[in-house]
Amino acid sequence: MDLGALQTLLESTDRKRIPLVMITVTNNSGGGQPVSMANIRAVSALCRKHGVPFYIDACRFAENAYFIKLREPGYADKTPKAIAQELFSYADGCTMSAKKDGMANIGGFLCTNDDRLAQQEKDLLILTEGYPTYGGLAGRDLEAIATGVQEALDIDYLNYRITSTAYLGNKISEQGVPIVQPPGGHAIYIDAKAFLPQIPAGQFPGVALAAELYLEGGIRSVEIGSLMFAAAAKMELVRLAIPRRVYTQSHIDYVVEIILSVWERRSELRGLRLTYEAPFLRHFTARLEPVA
Ligand SMILES: Cc1ncc(COP(=O)(O)O)c(C=O)c1O
Repeated sequence: MDLGALQTLLESTDRKRIPLVMITVTNNSGGGQPVSMANIRAVSALCRKHGVPFYIDACRFAENAYFIKLREPGYADKTPKAIAQELFSYADGCTMSAKKDGMANIGGFLCTNDDRLAQQEKDLLILTEGYPTYGGLAGRDLEAIATGVQEALDIDYLNYRITSTAYLGNKISEQGVPIVQPPGGHAIYIDAKAFLPQIPAGQFPGVALAAELYLEGGIRSVEIGSLMFAAAAKMELVRLAIPRRVYTQSHIDYVVEIILSVWERRSELRGLRLTYEAPFLRHFTARLEPVA
């Protein structure tokens, strides 16, 4: 989080217009990069000073904790669990899509340290999702999440996970494929603008590349660029998010091969034009066709 920008925003904006401040760990729209403990601590202090609740989007809390252990001074001897506990201690609450570091097939949760708010949320939950003891989830999925958040902190699992993601990133970048560096935790992000300089942003280079990877080898990726963010897009990225505990090294080698074969004939790729867009979150359901 840009502390200067946050401070300016908190000082210049009516408090009623800021219900909370949220940090996503790791950063899912900017390369899967981790957030440092120092940054989280500083954001928390700033939020407390201004009386604004501080929440964490905790989807990838375990990967973030592992990166802190590897990279941030003072954390090398701490367990990922102890680091995660410190990270959460600075927040007032969190949201969690447990399909990520919860290792579950479905589900998630919302936490808060505000008892009054928790009561309101539980009351609303009964109207919208289900009783507070299950929140619309099956018991087996709750069990999976309870186990998953612990297993995600296992040091051997984390080491394999981060190494395997970096392996993919390093293999393609050694051959010249432009990626966000250094490789992130859950995904490799290809820079589609640099990969396909012949396709302007208005013709969605990230979607063109994602479609080609699928046609070439059945690889499913997602654009994070002009289709997702329209005029606010700062980059044209293709995210290759890697499911946890699914792929072996030979699967990853196959992904490398497919990306490199598209890379070799990148000059043939053409842009796309939208034929359908929903009024909000258009990237989820958009339809596109090749530009003639
Ligand atoms: C950081 C982050 N937050 C929230 C979500 C939303 O998760 P869900 O689709 O389970 O609601 C995602 C999904 O990709 C995510 O990456």
